[in-house]
Amino acid sequence: MKAIGMLTLLAVIGNIVKLHYKVPSNLDSLSKKTNHDNFTLPSSSTEDSSSNAPTTQEGASGTNNKAVNAVIHVGPHKTGSSAIQHYSKVLHLELASDKYEMPWKHLKQNVNPWENQVNFATCFLPERANEHSKFPCREDLLEAGLSIAQQNNNSLLVSAETFDHAETTGVAELKTYLGQAWSNVTIVATYRRYYEWVVSLHCEHNKIKRHLAGHKLWQAIQKNETERLYPSIQDTLATIPVRGASAAVVARYKEFFPNVVVLNYHDKRKSLLERFYCDAIPHAPNTCKRVKEMMKNEGEEKRNESYDAVYEELTYAAHRSGMINVHSKEYCEAVTIAIKAHQEKTLKLSSDVFPRACPSGKILDDIWDISLRSEKDFIKHASNGLGYEDEVSLLSNSLNDDFDVYSKTRLCDVDVHTVLQSQVWRDFFAEEV
Ligand SMILES: *[C@@H]1O[C@H](CO)[C@@H](O)[C@H](O)[C@H]1NC(C)=O
Ligand SMILES: *[C@@H]1O[C@H](CO)[C@@H](O)[C@H](O)[C@H]1NC(C)=O
Ligand SMILES: *[C@@H]1O[C@H](CO)[C@@H](O)[C@H](O)[C@H]1NC(C)=O
Ligand SMILES: *[C@@H]1O[C@H](CO)[C@@H](O)[C@H](O)[C@H]1NC(C)=O
Ligand SMILES: *[C@@H]1O[C@H](CO)[C@@H](O)[C@H](O)[C@H]1NC(C)=O
Repeated sequence: MKAIGMLTLLAVIGNIVKLHYKVPSNLDSLSKKTNHDNFTLPSSSTEDSSSNAPTTQEGASGTNNKAVNAVIHVGPHKTGSSAIQHYSKVLHLELASDKYEMPWKHLKQNVNPWENQVNFATCFLPERANEHSKFPCREDLLEAGLSIAQQNNNSLLVSAETFDHAETTGVAELKTYLGQAWSNVTIVATYRRYYEWVVSLHCEHNKIKRHLAGHKLWQAIQKNETERLYPSIQDTLATIPVRGASAAVVARYKEFFPNVVVLNYHDKRKSLLERFYCDAIPHAPNTCKRVKEMMKNEGEEKRNESYDAVYEELTYAAHRSGMINVHSKEYCEAVTIAIKAHQEKTLKLSSDVFPRACPSGKILDDIWDISLRSEKDFIKHASNGLGYEDEVSLLSNSLNDDFDVYSKTRLCDVDVHTVLQSQVWRDFFAEEV
């Protein structure tokens, strides 16, 4: 049954390619090369060229007629993808000198966003996926991708965390698409610990970001509608999302691709960017050199650590309870800064020590189970099973410690009422603001 499904699928892709790809005429001589794959170029150009194409060494070398590398960075979401994408733009000249190109380069009219090639990725996503409405599949990007190989004999680089939503059919389609033009496909994914990833996802969904927090607070104060500034993380945890977790994404791609490189988000020995451009992408010496220089000058890239808007939450609660009257945007900012200064400078404490409402043991157990299982999968993948047991026991200890901290801090909501009722904060609001 599986075989039949696959054949149908290939036939469907063949039709899509034939219907949609209007291949430029200067590709004629190249169409012959991929002809044996039978779902590549429109038959008209194939026929023309097959009869009168010159016999070259390419003809003799079979699959060598394909360009060498295709690198697809599949995220997942919340694992540093935007930094990788940002640098793919910054470094596009170095990448080109290493024979890596990105499809957007070949479009007459550019797509936006272009460093995040989501409109390429959605071509391989189920129709129902949310992203489709916002970022419809751009067939011209797929075409542009092929011309990188067929026109320039270059390698392909595509990065889009949206690939993490691809299901079996989509991944199979991606394999077929890439198989037409590249002989060596590398899938790159980043592993991030599950409990940390969940917190990051919570921040993403609720737009909890450092650079937005001040604005959001002032808006909420003016409206004075919700009880808390941000939704509770307990709501996110109650519907623990397993989907999109690194382990699941890696497993799905490994079914179809032999080369799946997994970067460890938590490895601090080298920046994630350096590992991506120097270690994950095959043979990109110029790009790698430049990244190393940039990392030296700029230091470790600033990761967008998820933001814990504790002080904004306290300002909001103090306002709502009438302890203070936040009447202007300036005052709003000043209060938040003053609360932070009081906690961290005067009391010499961190925001982690505020009383918090944490998840139930059952929920924590579930999160821990998934975290441990994914960590094991990751180590197994990374070490190819060598010394696997030792590494797992080493790692589960450090994982356990780290999770312990998370389970008392970032997986919990700050208990604003208890904080505000404490003597030290009642005094603070009565005297200092
Ligand atoms: C591919 O080509 C082969 C031989 O030319 C043919 O037997 C096969 O049916 C073709 N497959 C598809 C999916 O068109
Ligand atoms: C494309 O490049 C690869 C390696 O760089 C080479 O082996 C192959 O012959 C080239 N193909 C063409 C058509 O130039
Ligand atoms: C951090 O997030 C901002 C806004 O979401 C984005 O513009 C920026 O590129 C991100 N930085 C990194 C290093 O990922
Ligand atoms: C093919 O890709 C793998 C990694 O995915 C890499 O190690 C290897 O060097 C690549 N081969 C060529 C010929 O570039
Ligand atoms: C904000 O709403 C709360 C709850 O409805 C109310 O008690 C409080 O007086 C309001 N604060 C302001 C400044 O309007």
